[in-house]
Amino acid sequence: MKSSSYSGFFKLSPEDRLKEVKEFAGLSDDECARFSDPASLDMGKADHMIENVIGRYTLPMSVALNFVVNGKDYLIPMVTEEASVVAAASNAAKMAAASGGFTTSYTGSIMIGQIQIINVRDPEYARVAILEQKDKIISLCNEKDPVLVKFGGGAIDVEARVLPTAQGPMVIVHLIVNTLDAMGANAVNTMAEATAPMLAELTGGTSYLRILSNLAVRRLARARCVMSKKSLGGEDVVDKVLAAYAFAASDPYRATTHNKGIMNGISAAVLATGNDTRAIEAGAHAYAARSGQYTSLSVWEKNANGDLVGSLELPMAVGLVGGATKIHPIAQVAVKILGVKSAGEMAQVFAALGLAQNLAAIRALATEGIQKGHMSLHARNIATVAGAEGELLERVVKQMIADKKVRLDYAQELVEKYKG
Ligand code: MEV
Repeated sequence: MKSSSYSGFFKLSPEDRLKEVKEFAGLSDDECARFSDPASLDMGKADHMIENVIGRYTLPMSVALNFVVNGKDYLIPMVTEEASVVAAASNAAKMAAASGGFTTSYTGSIMIGQIQIINVRDPEYARVAILEQKDKIISLCNEKDPVLVKFGGGAIDVEARVLPTAQGPMVIVHLIVNTLDAMGANAVNTMAEATAPMLAELTGGTSYLRILSNLAVRRLARARCVMSKKSLGGEDVVDKVLAAYAFAASDPYRATTHNKGIMNGISAAVLATGNDTRAIEAGAHAYAARSGQYTSLSVWEKNANGDLVGSLELPMAVGLVGGATKIHPIAQVAVKILGVKSAGEMAQVFAALGLAQNLAAIRALATEGIQKGHMSLHARNIATVAGAEGELLERVVKQMIADKKVRLDYAQELVEKYKG
């Protein structure tokens, strides 16, 4: 069986790391070549992806190691500008792997499309009238996407509610759609637009907005794991992590940063696979506020053994078909590296990544602080900007850390000094 754990992976050159990933994921030479070819996303494709294109923008891509999810090993592709994120996730995943890894589940790819109807004279009466026509509305939706229906998806339900607003009551209709392996925005929006005229007629009102909701509460990914007190560094560390979690659970200021740590991992993997980072971020943060108070997305507790147990549940509307995932040549390889067979499997691996990322951050914060780890990477970046390379770079980094002066002006001063 393939293993996602490597010792000394970080010490390899990027080319040698790619060789390992190639073997793990069965990549072709052509697929590997895409990583080092800045033109792998050619201008023609780029020009079709968005408007007013003037070029392409590249970011580092790496893989998080050690992820064992439901007994299967994964390398998780991540694209981010932030140092330490990938190493932190890999470390936490290693700790989880020692206790069997992550266990995950998924509710299914069920999205919600919203239709806003205003100027309804008798909104409660209209709501009931809409629900009476449920089957007809579902048929109308499904006529719009026979392919989705053929594969077992499509509209499955309709909900209607009366929403009090500053402009009086509005009737809000929800189309409940199984989008299978697609993120689903196109399918759901098309259905919402197709049914809006009928709904307006049925209610005697006027239909306005017709758009999917990113608060995908029916498309939840869940992950849980055990972090043994031994792998964490003792029961004392377990207690410190619990205190950090309690802080986030009660304070929105802290919860925002705590959840940002979760999304450091998830957004990087979402981006790598060509999915919509904003959709996932919006859904996650809204879900964190579902009780009326913004709080932590993850939950950390201590089990009977004194070990730390964590769980995470959040909306995860990621797709495998359509969008940039199918167009972007590196996103395609990212999906292959991840080795998932469905959008649901992808969503679950991303939830496990979020949980690992969170643990790594709060463990560091609750113990040594994050600056120590950050500083050496930060020092490398600064030294590179100051023009240092090779041996000179190592010397400048070492000196800046020893002097606790990790600043560009000091790096430049050292480069001048050592060069001289
Ligand atoms: C930094 O990108 C993320 C953290 O701030 C997350 C956290 O505070 O939990 C370290």
